[in-house]
Amino acid sequence: MTDKLIPLKIAGVGYSLPETVITNDDLTKLYDTSDEWIYTRTGIKERRVVSGEENAIDLGFDAAKKAIEKSGIAADEIDLILAASSAPPDLYPAIACHIQARLGISKAIPAFDITAACSGLIYGLSIAKAYIASGMYKNILIVATDNNSRLVDWTDRGTSILFGDGAGAVVVTQAEDGIDDIIAIDIKADGNYGHLIELAFDGKNCPLVEQYQEKPKGIRMNGRGVYTFVAKILPHYVEELITNAGMKAEDIDYLIPHQANIRIIQAVQERLGYPDEKVVTNIKYYGNTSAASIPIALAESVEKGKIKLGTTAVLCGFGAGMTWGGAIVRLREGIC
Ligand code: COA
Repeated sequence: MTDKLIPLKIAGVGYSLPETVITNDDLTKLYDTSDEWIYTRTGIKERRVVSGEENAIDLGFDAAKKAIEKSGIAADEIDLILAASSAPPDLYPAIACHIQARLGISKAIPAFDITAACSGLIYGLSIAKAYIASGMYKNILIVATDNNSRLVDWTDRGTSILFGDGAGAVVVTQAEDGIDDIIAIDIKADGNYGHLIELAFDGKNCPLVEQYQEKPKGIRMNGRGVYTFVAKILPHYVEELITNAGMKAEDIDYLIPHQANIRIIQAVQERLGYPDEKVVTNIKYYGNTSAASIPIALAESVEKGKIKLGTTAVLCGFGAGMTWGGAIVRLREGIC
């Protein structure tokens, strides 16, 4: 530990998507819906889903390998693994522990999962920033991976249309040049709105006692309620994050938002007064990949040359909890 706060460098990012594409037209085989209904209300045309044995650990491992490779840090130099997910195949071992093993890290390091739904990447970055600043850990891998297609109720057309699978990963380390890549970061939750999106995880009571009423399986969401809650708080919240950092919206090059609904993204965009070129969206192709959506949007847009490096971006996310968060970050050359 040290008395001086150590700055953080974003060293590498990576992402991974399953190959199988399910279009809006494909969903008409499951229930009464249409491409027009889904696209106009959400901005989604298609999403990726796992098939067979593939799961959130596989996607997360793939994204982690890519981020580690870009970072130039060897896997066995990682001091801490954080995994953000709402779709762990097992409650334990944690996804972070699975990924430690898959990466072949045999030295004992801490590895744990974060449950903050779609805000998971921002929560992970916030935790990593505190650990790096304190000098407690030097190299941290954050994996955000979700496998929503196994959790939605595929008979619920109001919810299952929205989600897709994918993973993103970020490697952060101590910045030796003294420049902190996290200019500002903030995370929030308000459990009073927990009922808006729920996913029950329960078993049965001891057979010798009275049983309880089991909750329905699958993601249950009040779509209208989520929309209203987020549209009300998020644009103002992002603007305040920027102001509190002593910056103006025009000082930041890109908005990389959670990809949940194009209309929510546009509300934030309008508040910041950004033209389309400054806003990263891929919701059309991947839907809402929960915690993975921000790092996928970041890594893919860099890889495909849609955003330049040596720039800054404001990230923002929200999800079940309700949780939300935002970060203003520097994107250095070479991260992807
Ligand atoms: N296809 C066709 N009709 C559908 C449909 C579908 N896939 N899903 C719902 N409908 C119908 C409903 O049954 C309802 O019909 P009714 O008026 O006859 O009862 C009608 O469309 C309106 O339903 P509603 O749920 O009020 O629609 P909406 O305009 O609120 O849009 C969402 C639904 C889910 C697209 C929208 O609320 C949303 O995107 N919310 C945000 C959710 C979110 O971002 N969650 C993730 C947070 S991380």
